[in-house]
Amino acid sequence: MRDRFEIRDQDAAGRIGELEVPRAGVTVETPALLPVINPHLQTVPPAEMEAEFGAEILITNGYIFYGSDEFRDRALDEGLHDLFEFSGAIMTDSGSFQLAEYGDIDVDTPEILQFQHDIGSDIATPVDIPTPPDAAREQAERDLAVTQEALETAEGVDVGEMLVNAPVQGSTYPDLREAAGAHAAGTDLDVFPVGAVVPLMNDYRYAEMVEVVTAAKRGLGPAAPVHLFGAGHPMMFALAVAAGCDLFDSAAYALYARDDRYLTVRGTEHLADLDYLPCSCPVCADHTPTELRAEPDDRREYLLARHNLHVTYAELRRVKQALRRGTLLELVEQRARAHPAMVDGYRALLDEADHLERTDPTTKDAFFHVSAESARRPEVHRHHDRLDRLPVDGETVLLTEGENNRRFDATWRLKPPFGPFPRALSKTYPLNAEVPDRLERAAYEAAADGVARLAEANPGVAFTVGHFDWPPSALDHLPDGVDTIDLSEEDGPGDDA
Ligand code: GUN
Ligand code: ZN
Repeated sequence: MRDRFEIRDQDAAGRIGELEVPRAGVTVETPALLPVINPHLQTVPPAEMEAEFGAEILITNGYIFYGSDEFRDRALDEGLHDLFEFSGAIMTDSGSFQLAEYGDIDVDTPEILQFQHDIGSDIATPVDIPTPPDAAREQAERDLAVTQEALETAEGVDVGEMLVNAPVQGSTYPDLREAAGAHAAGTDLDVFPVGAVVPLMNDYRYAEMVEVVTAAKRGLGPAAPVHLFGAGHPMMFALAVAAGCDLFDSAAYALYARDDRYLTVRGTEHLADLDYLPCSCPVCADHTPTELRAEPDDRREYLLARHNLHVTYAELRRVKQALRRGTLLELVEQRARAHPAMVDGYRALLDEADHLERTDPTTKDAFFHVSAESARRPEVHRHHDRLDRLPVDGETVLLTEGENNRRFDATWRLKPPFGPFPRALSKTYPLNAEVPDRLERAAYEAAADGVARLAEANPGVAFTVGHFDWPPSALDHLPDGVDTIDLSEEDGPGDDA
């Protein structure tokens, strides 16, 4: 890996970074969206992407130019930047994805890399093999060996300042994805797309998407800029960014517009089904659904593509702002509510607590507990780890949701989902969390797990838990030897209230 990427801010495994693209003479802020440009079908001109949407980077398919009578010579003569009238960074794909779907690959990596270089690409792609999900293990291994050979070949091609992608494959085998990530990071290539995830996303298999990404990232390490190849629906940006993806390419804005489909951050609507437009972009501010439907085909496609881009860029900005404030996981929770498969994706992300904790900042904006999943956030794990190290003074200690009690040597606060902590830490992150009065069982159970951690770390101390009517499932999480008092059954206030 060459050193082209700097991380500026982090939240969960997500980050705001800067990718230096020397051949374009620009630095791209990530997370970044790369609209897919198809020269044959383009509705929104690249120049408009730059002027209206602030696009800093886009992606097109080198192989389309390679095989096109209409565009090949123009691209070679003028270069992509002049052809597109676009001054940002241009990434090109090699066509391997299309070729894997539609036919045999008839170019090799040196030739297609050289061609991408010659049409002025800033970030090029070798010929990888996108092994689909659920492939047989032997096929995934065989394909991966070919992809790894292509990456090694790419290292040997002299491409000047052009950056080169190192796609990470391995189908749905986490160990292969991890090994592929480690191999890719060991090359001197620059950007690391996680490949062949399009079928997972098309089938709403978000949990497996998260597993594939986190496995790849275990191999790649935190310093690698990661591109989620073919991910363009704004609904999943927050989740993918929180899992550690930095770049996204979107063909969705255009493909969906062609089918009269209207993107929202909660999913996709059909224009025919809309009585109102739930968006304030210029297109939606200027049209009713009836007016949009009455537009001629080309014009309607253009307007829908622009709406789709507005929604997509707006969500990316929302994700970045949440990341800056440390509220990215809260945005992921909100987005997860849009579809049960997204809940699975979020739960899969929380399964990777180690992966999240390594990069999650130790202090940020107040923690909002907004669902049962909040109890599994990295902040809760980190607090439990900390309980192993916090000094306990005294032989009898009350851990309570209620008042201090002088009958004990010490009183600590007890707050779901975190568990116990010394009163002095009450105003520190994340223990100053905003928590609803009506909590789910998961929050009490997590707090009880915290008590268990503290009790394990301090075997000589007698702990008593003072709780307000905790559910039996949470009390079951307490270790033997911890006493309990149900404060909701006591008549008056404690002795020093
Ligand atoms: N576009 C979407 N997925 C892929 C992939 O796995 N490899 C390449 N080269 N392009 C893609
Ligand atoms: Zn709109």
